[in-house]
Amino acid sequence: MLLNADDFRERARGNLPRGLFEYIDRGTEDERALTSLRSSLDAITLRPSVLTGHDRRNLQSRLWGRTIAAPLVVAPTALAGLVSFDGETKLARAAAAVGIPFCVSTQSVTTIETIRRGAPDATLWFQLYVWRDRSLTADLLKRVAACGCDVLVVTADTPVAPNREYNLRNGFSIPFSATAGNLVDMALHPRWLLGVMARYLLTEGIPTYGHYPPAFRGAITRPSVAEAVRLEHRLNWDDVGALRNAWKGKLVIKGILHAEDAQIAADIGADGVVVSAHGGRNLDCLPPPAACLREISDAVGSRLTVLADSGVRRGTDVLKYLALGAQAVQLGRLPLWGLAAGGEKGAVAVLRMIIREMDTAMGFLGAERVEALRLAEGSAPLPAGGSHRSMAPEARIF
Ligand SMILES: Cc1cc2nc3c(=O)[nH]c(=O)nc-3n(C[C@H](O)[C@H](O)[C@H](O)COP(=O)(O)O)c2cc1C
Repeated sequence: MLLNADDFRERARGNLPRGLFEYIDRGTEDERALTSLRSSLDAITLRPSVLTGHDRRNLQSRLWGRTIAAPLVVAPTALAGLVSFDGETKLARAAAAVGIPFCVSTQSVTTIETIRRGAPDATLWFQLYVWRDRSLTADLLKRVAACGCDVLVVTADTPVAPNREYNLRNGFSIPFSATAGNLVDMALHPRWLLGVMARYLLTEGIPTYGHYPPAFRGAITRPSVAEAVRLEHRLNWDDVGALRNAWKGKLVIKGILHAEDAQIAADIGADGVVVSAHGGRNLDCLPPPAACLREISDAVGSRLTVLADSGVRRGTDVLKYLALGAQAVQLGRLPLWGLAAGGEKGAVAVLRMIIREMDTAMGFLGAERVEALRLAEGSAPLPAGGSHRSMAPEARIF
């Protein structure tokens, strides 16, 4: 029975080749950030109001004037299409099934056009890694806009390639290269080999980053060929300002952990920020978002939509980020584990599970609507080693 995030994670571990599972699951270097994400959320408590007389909770939320069924977003995750055949389209459909947006990664296997065709009702956002050749990046954004995406999420927290030693050891790389080690790994996972890899090989060939222009696809590890689509690690605020002027929809900057950076984002006309530690996958000594979120939402919450992500494994983790000032919370690994465990149905099941957990916890807290959580006063997590007060009762405001 798959009842919680750990159950889905273990099923994913069983279904996926080890290299792919570790690519999704693990952190970076000594993986201290994964521990600190968990402990930062565990250290927060939520204090209930009792006898509020509520019957049902309403998790509906609004982002930029649009209603979503719960304050959740399926986060951009590169190569989700390797987890399940056509995995990004399945994630888009799963998100649509529960009424929340899905953010497509620049580095998805499936293109935004194909995802749009497969999930016509989905609310699609797009996450941008800027390529060195800005005209190619501009062409990509035209395609994104043509697919009805009106939220662009620019990832700002990956200025260099992360140091993930386990991927060097387990041979996981893109384009997928068949080493002796990962051939054995794949052979030991026939369900994935036949259900995912063989299906790609029979239809589209070796899976790789679908958005890359055809001339660069399949050759992205060859520096001489790939310079134009190398990620622009020298990105600066002027570049993002230029994107702001060029992009007509909402512009969100992902990977903010400092109120000053959030202020600059507001000054250049961004519409939102994602307070994120990139799921503990980039720099291993980042502070957890829970330690920075209140400060950032106090600084810019009136000017920007503040989102958060990293480390969510329970519905209560979502409520904690909301209580600290987030207006919605992104889920990265959880939907991927669902996808690995049971394809589209598995992704839907994971999302429903988190929504159910949120609903149950809101019932205990005496909170009828998610807005009430955001108005919580006195919440104070916990930077390193600090004590914290309990979350003030959101429902006290009634
Ligand atoms: C397998 C994987 C791939 C990811 N790829 C991207 C990406 O392409 N762009 C991006 O901005 N963030 C990427 N992220 C980070 C997520 O968007 C998100 O910030 C993070 O996963 C949240 O933490 P969680 O996994 O604990 O929920 C990726 C995360 C995972 C797990």
